[in-house]
Amino acid sequence: MAVTTDRRKLDAHALRADFPIFEQLIHGKPLAYLDSANSSQKPRQVLDAMTAFYETSYANVHRAVHVLGERATAGLEGAREKVRAFVNAPEEREIVFVRNATEALNLVAYAWGGSNLGPGDAVVVTELEHHSNFVPWQYIARRNGAEFLMLPLDDAYEVDLSGLDEIARDHTVKVVATNLVSNSLGTIADLAPLTRWAREQGAIFVCDAAQAAPHMRVDVQALDCDFLAISGHKMCGPSGIGALWGRGSILEAMEPFLLGGHMINSVRYEKTTWGELPHKFEAGTSPIAEAYGMGAAIDYLEAAGIDAIEAHEHELVAYALGRLGEIPGITLYGPPPERRAGVVSFNLADIHPHDVAQILDRSGVAIRAGHHCCQPLMHKLGVAATNRASFYLYTVPEEIDQLVDGLHTVRKVFA
Ligand SMILES: Cc1ncc(COP(=O)(O)O)c(C=O)c1O
Repeated sequence: MAVTTDRRKLDAHALRADFPIFEQLIHGKPLAYLDSANSSQKPRQVLDAMTAFYETSYANVHRAVHVLGERATAGLEGAREKVRAFVNAPEEREIVFVRNATEALNLVAYAWGGSNLGPGDAVVVTELEHHSNFVPWQYIARRNGAEFLMLPLDDAYEVDLSGLDEIARDHTVKVVATNLVSNSLGTIADLAPLTRWAREQGAIFVCDAAQAAPHMRVDVQALDCDFLAISGHKMCGPSGIGALWGRGSILEAMEPFLLGGHMINSVRYEKTTWGELPHKFEAGTSPIAEAYGMGAAIDYLEAAGIDAIEAHEHELVAYALGRLGEIPGITLYGPPPERRAGVVSFNLADIHPHDVAQILDRSGVAIRAGHHCCQPLMHKLGVAATNRASFYLYTVPEEIDQLVDGLHTVRKVFA
């Protein structure tokens, strides 16, 4: 992780004023938005950047010589530079704009895995993956006749690495794909042993940072990964944009993923050649306004202070685990507060999570209930679903109190 001397403390009550969504009542109650791991709310600064672009500079990018086209292109490329700096990537051309983290991971699975995996090879993921970093690998591995292997979780909800030697003995490992922060349990992975092992195997290391980048400093060079995926909508940016960082030499050697306009160098009946990075992977019209929004979101997060956001969430998680732990019949899943980002998964006695979430909604509390796109994890936990409350830089302890009060109401309803 990048070393920083930034010791700012975050004032969530003050930041909240930047988010218009909190200006309303939900069912007559203040909104307690505890679903940020699903998608975050947007500050006025992001909304304004996108509106200003549409009102003053809108045109398509990379293909117009008029002033609006040039302005729009400069804005898109400026956002690319912001993403590069945000993840400390060596080069701008290594940042590929995609629709979301799912598309970023599919790009790697199809374009790299599709041509580099075959019989005798293995892809290794963990039991803690979101489906977006599980299903594409499972599909491509099996389609290409490669093995698909899953590292299990231990009883402390940490990825169990004790089977690595056996895997290395029996397989040619080509891909290791894992998240940095779990969306279901909030676990912050210690990736160093796994990246080292992946290097020893000569495998590529794919990091799903969809839940990490919004909450903590993510540095592709310190992580020593080969690919990293993020989603704009989880980090105060708009939906419809995400980014893939890939090591330049690997991206260069890869075949394209989507084909069509913009990603070519020349097209003839006999043969088509591909454009330079990152354009080879950006077929069709880019998410232009969304890139403006994502750039503004990065500015916003940096101004708040990434370390301050992380520290704020640790405080909230510790507070939430303490308060939720007082509720009779509650089961809390996941590691201790110091090992997790702002996510708390729980079940309340045998009340179905959907019922819990629906009753909470009546008190203005928004949480997520379901399998969180982590069915292998749910299977491991022995449940079909959990409730999940998740926090961000605008979350205040009063929202957690509102959640706890709401859960007492749920208990009364089901008593
Ligand atoms: C860990 C993780 N990876 C990947 C994704 C997929 O993100 P998106 O839906 O933006 O593609 C999510 C979304 O919840 C996630 O939490």
